[in-house]
Amino acid sequence: MIKKYVFGTPVETEAVVQVIPVTEKTISRFEFQNNQFIYQMTEKTKVYGLGEANRGINKRGYRYVSFCSDEPSHTEEKESLYGAHNFLVIDDENPFGVFIDNPGKVTFDLGYEEINQLVITPKYMDMYIYLIEGNTPLDIIRQFRKMIGKSYIPPKWAFGFGQCRWSYENSGRVDDVIRNYEEHQMLISSVYLDIDYMQDYKDFTINEERFPDFKDYVSKVRKKGIRLVPIIDAGVKIEEGYHVYEEGVKNRFFVKDINGEDYITAVWPGYTHFPDFLNSKARAWFGEKYRFLLDLGIEGFWNDMNEPAIFYSKNMVERLKKRIKESDIEHDDQVLMDDIRWKLTGVANNSEDYQSMYHDMNGERINHDKVHNLYGYHMSRAAAEAFEKLVPDKKILMFSRSSYIGMHRYCGIWMGDNCSWWSHILLNLKMLPSLNMCGFMYIGADVGGFGCNATEDLVMRWMALGVFTPLFRNHSAFGTRNQECYQFTDTAAFKNIIDVRYRLMPYIYDVYLKSVENDDMMYSPLAFVYPEDEIASGIEDQLLLGEDIMIAPVYLQNAIGRYVYLPENMTFVKFERDGKTVCESMRKGVHFVKIARDEVPLFIRENHQVKIVRQSVITDASLREKIMDCSICYREEDFEYLQ
Ligand code: GLC
Repeated sequence: MIKKYVFGTPVETEAVVQVIPVTEKTISRFEFQNNQFIYQMTEKTKVYGLGEANRGINKRGYRYVSFCSDEPSHTEEKESLYGAHNFLVIDDENPFGVFIDNPGKVTFDLGYEEINQLVITPKYMDMYIYLIEGNTPLDIIRQFRKMIGKSYIPPKWAFGFGQCRWSYENSGRVDDVIRNYEEHQMLISSVYLDIDYMQDYKDFTINEERFPDFKDYVSKVRKKGIRLVPIIDAGVKIEEGYHVYEEGVKNRFFVKDINGEDYITAVWPGYTHFPDFLNSKARAWFGEKYRFLLDLGIEGFWNDMNEPAIFYSKNMVERLKKRIKESDIEHDDQVLMDDIRWKLTGVANNSEDYQSMYHDMNGERINHDKVHNLYGYHMSRAAAEAFEKLVPDKKILMFSRSSYIGMHRYCGIWMGDNCSWWSHILLNLKMLPSLNMCGFMYIGADVGGFGCNATEDLVMRWMALGVFTPLFRNHSAFGTRNQECYQFTDTAAFKNIIDVRYRLMPYIYDVYLKSVENDDMMYSPLAFVYPEDEIASGIEDQLLLGEDIMIAPVYLQNAIGRYVYLPENMTFVKFERDGKTVCESMRKGVHFVKIARDEVPLFIRENHQVKIVRQSVITDASLREKIMDCSICYREEDFEYLQ
């Protein structure tokens, strides 16, 4: 049962697709005091949800702020990451769900100030709130997912393994990557192009020197079974003669300042304007621009910097200049320097800028700060709506960095700029079910870690988790150690791990489709499946994948294995080198299982079986392109069954 409440004059976010009448009464379940929604938890209450957020699957005990942020350092104290997913499941005697459909900043204090108090504080009081009553967390989630509409389904090839780096800056580097994967007989379905493929970081341009004859190049790579997937950034470079800039200015399609002038911020290309994705005409215009790359044979995109990320703004620079000019250096050095230091450290992604930008939401001027969390969502929506018109018969891969609930219908997300830290393998795992609760199904992290230098064992262990995530992409930042699978010593081990992904592909794809179709979880916390089992309900480093598999990755350096808790009898399966699988029946309970660095572990539930492709098929050289392309049609004899 769903109740809808209205506060103030909400912005229509289109997060919800089901028509639900507004309930007249004052909000139930919560106490409403001083513009805060307060809920008294018992000691046993668990709190799930919030999608792409820091910390645990049970989110209780910390404070989270929904405000899409370009936050490259996901340390434990961070309250905001790239997405804003305001859905919670409060699981106690009478569980219920709450969705705060408010695209401004919303703070969720889940027992932080006071251990048993859950307090929701929206910055702006214009919103819809939905309360969902149900018998179990899953029942509540299913109702919520139904309410927000079906999740995005990417093309099948998007389930293959992808290699990315900031940056493969010319076709020679891309060739190099492909050749190395080929030489090591590792399968790969996509190579990603980061910002350097563009001319001076201008969206919808190609740097012809670095990528001559781009169209032919795309098709040459495609013939090998590999897709190139370029990045698109939110900011449009300010440059006379650049058509996107000129059209945007002429048609008033950019975000404005208070005086109606195009707001100027700096991102990768230097000074830029932000397209006003909240305006339907601007959205249609920007979406249409993707045609340029579709016409060149591109079939996938990643939308970036769309929180939107701001390095600094023209306003900020002007204010600082003025301050320096006006200061009496003799007397005011300290004040001035403190001011500059403060400004410089807080200059990027500055709240002053967000509060100074304005959208034209189809005739109504609205301050950016009130709708901040919609920006990335509507950028991706612009593209997805254009794809429907431009290539109606084709599925296009797309995922975005920033997101809000509703965007799950248009594309997937990646989990942003993580680091090559062991703790981030675990964070990757924990985000999976929380994202599913909020409708995001095509998800994955930068495997191997984006920032910092990776080590061979970390990438290997992370890959052994990545084989289970829909988006399986190794990506790393400029200036970090190379972490493509062929860069390390034990390349045969990496080959084996990637093979496991392709062997599991039919299972993973099937679970994906079913989860979308049935508004179901692809990854479930153990607590959802074994609610009566007290131990299972507290476990946060194991997940169920679909109905048959439990995953339990190793996320500690130098570990020779790990402890697992089996809530029922299961078969422990290890994918070893050379395509060997070893199965062992295990009784319900706690076990220490040995898992070598080069092995992929999984557990199969009692009386369940999993269909996997035979290793001999995966390594058949004559099928290589079709397997990478994911267009292969397996015959029954190509499979074996694990149980
Ligand atoms: C951002 C993205 C990252 C990308 C980089 C350069 O940090 O999150 O994935 O590599 O920009 O474009």
